[in-house]
Amino acid sequence: MDDMQAAPATARLTDRPDWLYLLREFEALYRFGSAGGSTLIRAHRKRVRDALSRIIAGNAEIDDRAAEDKPVTAHLSRALDLGERGAMQGMARALREVRAGLTWEYGYEKVPKTLAQRYAYCEIAGPLGPVRASELILGFVLFAPNTTYPQHSHHEIEESYISIAGAWSENDAAVHAPGSLILNKPGDEHRITTGQTDPCLLAYAWVGSHERLAAPAMKLTATRKARRLQGI
Ligand SMILES: [Fe+2]
Repeated sequence: MDDMQAAPATARLTDRPDWLYLLREFEALYRFGSAGGSTLIRAHRKRVRDALSRIIAGNAEIDDRAAEDKPVTAHLSRALDLGERGAMQGMARALREVRAGLTWEYGYEKVPKTLAQRYAYCEIAGPLGPVRASELILGFVLFAPNTTYPQHSHHEIEESYISIAGAWSENDAAVHAPGSLILNKPGDEHRITTGQTDPCLLAYAWVGSHERLAAPAMKLTATRKARRLQGI
């Protein structure tokens, strides 16, 4: 770089209002939603919103990342349409405003072939950006209709999903509708299935140490059942 040229100023949240408003949607969800009487969920919600308040109050840095699609993002418009009709309409609208700048990823070194067509996630905030955060990752995961996301767990990371659009089930335990929050404690094994006709869009939050969030080492659990589901 030319010595005489000043380095470009790092963008901050207030320079990117659409991203700030998206974070405010997350903040509202984790501040005003119910914990359903669960002490664990209440504590998780507080951890998320405390970290989020620090990100917003500190006017965090935001990277201009290269946008990237994956095959499943062909379902994003439909997922946002559905989201805008339901309980999570504010979040769906705020996500639509930043969609052109989203980086959709797989996260796994080896993605099973069928899953590569039907799943991807994008991060909104975290140690790797785009909004710089140290103890929290926020993002969205998108599934095509009729998808099985094989069994996995997260080491030293506490995870919540909030349904934005579509119907889905975790561990065959219930059907979750837009607005539902599901907590997966560190190490909890979970497997997701989505409804037959509509895509499914979930917002997620991960809380953990900075080191763990910077290198979460995502791995699918290699049970016999999981191997069969992945077709390997
Ligand atoms: Fe998970």
